[in-house]
Amino acid sequence: MLIAHISDFHVFVNAPETSIVRPDAADAARKVVADIAAFTPKIDAIMFTGDLTDGGSSEDYALLADILAPITVPIFVVPGNHDKREGLRAAFKDQLPFGPGPLLNYETHFEDVRILALDTLLDGQVEGRLDPDQLAWLEQKLATPSRELTLILMHHPAFPSTIAPLDHMALQDGRDAFARLINAYQGPLCILSGHIHRPFQAIWNGVFCAVGGGPAFQHGLGLDAVGSEPSIVNEPYAYFIHRILDAETVSIHTRYVEL
Ligand SMILES: [Fe+2]
Repeated sequence: MLIAHISDFHVFVNAPETSIVRPDAADAARKVVADIAAFTPKIDAIMFTGDLTDGGSSEDYALLADILAPITVPIFVVPGNHDKREGLRAAFKDQLPFGPGPLLNYETHFEDVRILALDTLLDGQVEGRLDPDQLAWLEQKLATPSRELTLILMHHPAFPSTIAPLDHMALQDGRDAFARLINAYQGPLCILSGHIHRPFQAIWNGVFCAVGGGPAFQHGLGLDAVGSEPSIVNEPYAYFIHRILDAETVSIHTRYVEL
């Protein structure tokens, strides 16, 4: 099974909410979608880790739907800090089993993979959070090790990129409690995030984590960066293709798309 991990399209209809989003963000997103749709062997599902739109308007989600139309396989999403919950819920309510509360958490299964989607959005903030109710829900989901591979989707990484100006953007509230749950879990587990706009991988509390880049703008590899923002670079976009052989064996490949 092949799963593509994409993130941070930030598509918009009118003006971008984020000043550094490229004006042709929709065109960049279409190139990524076209690459996924044409990839062989066929991609079986998509994990989209937030910031699908830049402003979260209904027009933005209508544009997103048009951009995603060439993809005919399931798409599993979580909200990013630039999404709006009501818009995202409306856009995916027929495909995803969102819970009854205001937050867009859910558990679902795709073939032999369990997906736990966490809504880490903190309204108006760049930082993420998991509240006590979410942590209790997750604790219950992780109480019994599953033989399935579990993928946790969450926009905000729980760990630093070590590109220092970006590290305040990580999960803040609930991070330590989340770490304890992850650390205690005995089954196969991988955490997929976005938000940083630079693809990288991490091992955090013994769990493999992948952070998808964003085609709407890309941060440079500023491992010595200081100040408020790292550089913006014009590099090919990279998304990840997870080839899942079984719950214990996953190869993760990097696929480049010229924007
Ligand atoms: Fe983003």
